[in-house]
Amino acid sequence: MSFYVTTPIFYGNGEPHLGHAYSTMAADILARHMRQRGEDVFFLTGTDEHGEPIAQAAEKQGLTPQELVDRSAQSFRDMAAKVDATNDFFIRTTDQGHIERVQAVVDRVKENGFVYEGTYEGWYCPRCADFKNENEIGPGDTCLIHEIPLDRETEQNWFFRLSAFQDELEKLYEENPGMIQPDFRRNEALAFIRGGLNDVSLSRSQISWGVPLSWDPDQVMYVWFDALLNYYTALGYAREGEDLTGRFWPASWHIIAKDILKFHTVYWPAFLMAAGIEVPQRIFIHGFLLMGDKKMSKSLGNVLDPFEVIEKFGADALRFYCFREVSFGQDGSISTEGFETRYESELANDFGNLASRTLAMISRYRDGVVPEAGPDPLLLADFEGITDRVSALLDDAQIGQALEEIWVLVRRLNRYVEEAQPWVLAKDEADAERLDQVLYSLAEGLRVLTLLLHPYLPASTDILLEALAEPDQGLAPFGSRPGGVKVEKIDPLFPKL
Ligand code: MSP
Repeated sequence: MSFYVTTPIFYGNGEPHLGHAYSTMAADILARHMRQRGEDVFFLTGTDEHGEPIAQAAEKQGLTPQELVDRSAQSFRDMAAKVDATNDFFIRTTDQGHIERVQAVVDRVKENGFVYEGTYEGWYCPRCADFKNENEIGPGDTCLIHEIPLDRETEQNWFFRLSAFQDELEKLYEENPGMIQPDFRRNEALAFIRGGLNDVSLSRSQISWGVPLSWDPDQVMYVWFDALLNYYTALGYAREGEDLTGRFWPASWHIIAKDILKFHTVYWPAFLMAAGIEVPQRIFIHGFLLMGDKKMSKSLGNVLDPFEVIEKFGADALRFYCFREVSFGQDGSISTEGFETRYESELANDFGNLASRTLAMISRYRDGVVPEAGPDPLLLADFEGITDRVSALLDDAQIGQALEEIWVLVRRLNRYVEEAQPWVLAKDEADAERLDQVLYSLAEGLRVLTLLLHPYLPASTDILLEALAEPDQGLAPFGSRPGGVKVEKIDPLFPKL
């Protein structure tokens, strides 16, 4: 089966912060997990490089727009690498391959009769790059998100007949209740659609930094349509001489945050329908990471720099913390103190210790060879079906809940060590068989959990899988690997800070 997951493409006028990394890490966890299941995976991220805000930011900094986006594309690429993301491609909307394909899709939308010329008059937020309708306008004609005055715009441009898709969109979400996750976001999208859809500008005439329309090159594409199309265009040129569209489209998951719900659940499927292209399978809308009670954002200046956090805690700890601390789909506060607490109590104590102890005891009592024994019946019931449960949760992008399922068993194994007391068993030859069973069960439990944790903690589980002599990273049921394997001791995976 093919599995195609995307992150939003990030604005090419900013520096990456933890909020961006959050979406990227989520998509990466799903991608890695699906690869473990042997699926044919494609994972896309990238940068959104056209539009007025970028042109303006460049001017302010005395750069050309291209110079500005070249820099920030590099920072976003670095960010993805730093959080250990395994994206298969990094799209930039200034790529020639993207531009050509955007033009081709828009031409189709026009041929299909969904584009007309008209005059736009209304309110526009330059920071959102969004035309606001009545219920999106704050007191004194301000932007509800940025709290800045909106611009009154009047311009001649081309329109997309969004209103023609009202019924089809309603039907789409009524007939596919699982398509937007979590469920309350689907209600939000439906409410927006039922509130009535106005046609939207497809192009802008007073801006030049964008993709020119093929039939009217004085106008450039409205940046949101240009940006959304990245998910589709990338497949056409990500691999030289190969078109991956048939293999991966429609996308399995778009991972986004709630700020861009309207674009992804209303504009995007409508535009695809207009072009005669299949709509994405599912969209997961996560919440915001907050510092205190404020959204982390560049304009508010309260951002955690993911590079600094990784410097101190490592990428694994960051990936772990974000999905352990904040319920995926909800807003949630994060803090440096929170990091430290979870790092010590869960990563270092629960998991790191379990791993070190297990390997040390096998080394001390059995010369590093996992005994050839069977699994302890005491653990069988706990581990029964764990791989399927985690897989089912991750099928629904329940990243935090899947992690919780795994963690219950990490704690279970720690309790098992305390209950079974291998150090007592080791003192009496008469208990040798029992000790074999306990050590085998610990090694096997640790192996199963390490494999399940791999998408969350890729670097430390790589070390551990090597120490466990587990060459294959595919998921495995408890008790499926026989003993007799030579394992190695390890240094603490999560050293005390
Ligand atoms: N360029 C558009 C998206 C186009 S997608 C076709 C854009 N870019 S952005 O740089 O502003 O990134 C927005 C996305 O970054 C959010 O949807 C979310 O995925 C992520 N986040 C930015 N700040 C965030 C938090 N504080 N918390 C969680 N995610 C956040 O919008």
